[in-house]
Amino acid sequence: MSRIATPPAYSGGSPGVSSDKSSYGRVESSKSVSTSQSLDEKSYIPKPRFESGNSERVKVFMRIRPTIRAEETSGAIAWNKGSETITLLRPESPVPETSFSFQKVLGPQTSQSEVYNYAVRDVVEDVLQGYNGTVMAYGQTGAGKTYTLGNTDASAVGMIPRAVAEIFNTAAADTLHTYQICLSYIQIYMEMIQDLLRPEAENLAIREDSAGGGVFVSGCSEVLVNTLEDCLHYLEMGDRNRVFAFTALNAQSSRSHAVVMLTVVRSSRYLSSKERDARAAQGDPSTLPFASPKVKVGKLFLVDLAGSERLKKSQSVGLRASEARAINLSLTTLGMCISSRASDASHVPFRDSKLTRLLQESLGGNAKTSLLLCVSDAKEYVDETLQSLQFGARAMCVKNKPVVNERMGTSTLAAQLMAALAAAAASGTRAAESQRAANLEAVLHQTKEERDALEEERLKLGKMIDALRKEKDVEKKELEVRKEVALKEQADLMALSHGEQLKKAKGVAEQLDREIQKLIKDREAMIKLHREEMAAAKVREEKLERHLEEVVGDLNDSKARNAVLQRCLDATKADLKVFHASMCSGLSQVKEAVSRIASGPVEGEGEG
Ligand SMILES: Nc1ncnc2c1ncn2[C@@H]1O[C@H](COP(=O)(O)OP(=O)(O)OP(=O)(O)O)[C@@H](O)[C@H]1O
Ligand SMILES: [Mg+2]
Repeated sequence: MSRIATPPAYSGGSPGVSSDKSSYGRVESSKSVSTSQSLDEKSYIPKPRFESGNSERVKVFMRIRPTIRAEETSGAIAWNKGSETITLLRPESPVPETSFSFQKVLGPQTSQSEVYNYAVRDVVEDVLQGYNGTVMAYGQTGAGKTYTLGNTDASAVGMIPRAVAEIFNTAAADTLHTYQICLSYIQIYMEMIQDLLRPEAENLAIREDSAGGGVFVSGCSEVLVNTLEDCLHYLEMGDRNRVFAFTALNAQSSRSHAVVMLTVVRSSRYLSSKERDARAAQGDPSTLPFASPKVKVGKLFLVDLAGSERLKKSQSVGLRASEARAINLSLTTLGMCISSRASDASHVPFRDSKLTRLLQESLGGNAKTSLLLCVSDAKEYVDETLQSLQFGARAMCVKNKPVVNERMGTSTLAAQLMAALAAAAASGTRAAESQRAANLEAVLHQTKEERDALEEERLKLGKMIDALRKEKDVEKKELEVRKEVALKEQADLMALSHGEQLKKAKGVAEQLDREIQKLIKDREAMIKLHREEMAAAKVREEKLERHLEEVVGDLNDSKARNAVLQRCLDATKADLKVFHASMCSGLSQVKEAVSRIASGPVEGEGEG
């Protein structure tokens, strides 16, 4: 690739928004188009880069951003300027050097205009010819995706404003065609699609076009943009609605994937008979009022992906951490889809995330795709860089099958009918008249068929809208609950400045540390106390045991003593019994003697 030049200047008028009001407006928009920049008819013959319907691989361009942060140490990538191969250096790893080759390696000194000329210009030119095109920036957080695509700084205008400028410049310089340019701008935030031009339209669904035109975001606004300034104004408006936030790795980190969608409808311009005569005089044999009744519809997707991030390094917590998890998950799905496509697997998990579903056509379908791999040369991010380069290497294997999107334009047909009528009226010969009448009939028939098809489509759409309304009511309720929770979390975080957030986080960490230390101390004290109690209990137990033994001994002694005493008692009782008996007998003898004495002297007693 050697073509390196600034994009041609836009020559359209600016009745709407003044370029001064828009930071995007700094894209070159001079009113004059130099002769060398003018596009003649030949410029609109598709270039023979390849034939429509042939397969073409995804093109991968690697951009190394300069080292910008004080804490970064450059030197992770070895590269010789001009070479398309780089070597990633990881001295500590078992594989210390890994080489990768891409379509083009764009070094740290590469300007935005060079990036455009290498990676984007061809895609935009093909979109103007009716192809679908995608330009997507991939890489870890802070690697320069948003800078590359959406930067609005006049000194380094990004790819999006440049692509838009080229489309309008081309349209302004083309005398043979009229252009209709429509813009949509959405973000995928936490797996929900939001219209960035009408932010109240949230949680939009992706649907399949029944006419085979791929997928589309249902309910998303499509703004008809007539001038470059209009378009830049809407883009700036969309940027303001996109979610960015401060993280430890990027002060303006994109927290969502953003997709700019431009639809370019190109139709042949109606030529008056005067113009046709003038063209005939220049040797153009065609006498038809239209070069072609068909319109060409090219769609351009410009995708600024959110970057993968390691929570440890980005220090994201709360809502920021939830965002990072959603981003990483959808990027993993993107990687899996690329791998499946690259290996021609039978199943590609496009439906696993909104991002991949939306980019389905760009990854192996009807589109031409340029992937901009944004990486940093910092040694601190060498693992992340390796992951990005592996992603790019796999993406290079994905084959697309782009075709020119052509359809019959209704307005072209109606105008063709009018022209045919006028021609029939002006014709003198009968034969020519009947031939023209037959032509007229055919055109009428075609118009009627198209009208019937449109009517059918309208009915189908009506039914779809009813179903969507019902679905939306349910989704809305769910969303309100989720939004309330998210808003509360966000409000809590937003209420704090970054410094305060860090201070608070530090405070929380210190508090936690103190609590942990206290818990450890308490636990140790408890263990000590427990041990002491155990020891005291053991001593008590031993004492009790001894006491018990003593008591048992005493009990045995007292039992023995009792037995002796019992025996004594029994003996005493027996003695007492004998004594009692002898006493009783003595007493009765005494009683007898007393009664004898009382009853008088006993005979013989005096004589004795
Ligand atoms: N080529 C470059 N030249 C100079 N500065 C750059 C370049 N690329 C990126 N930067 C700067 O690096 C910083 C991070 O860039 P940017 O916001 O584009 O990263 P990102 O890849 O979009 O990150 P995220 O995924 O977090 O959104 C910005 O300050 C940007 O201006
Ligand atoms: Mg970004």
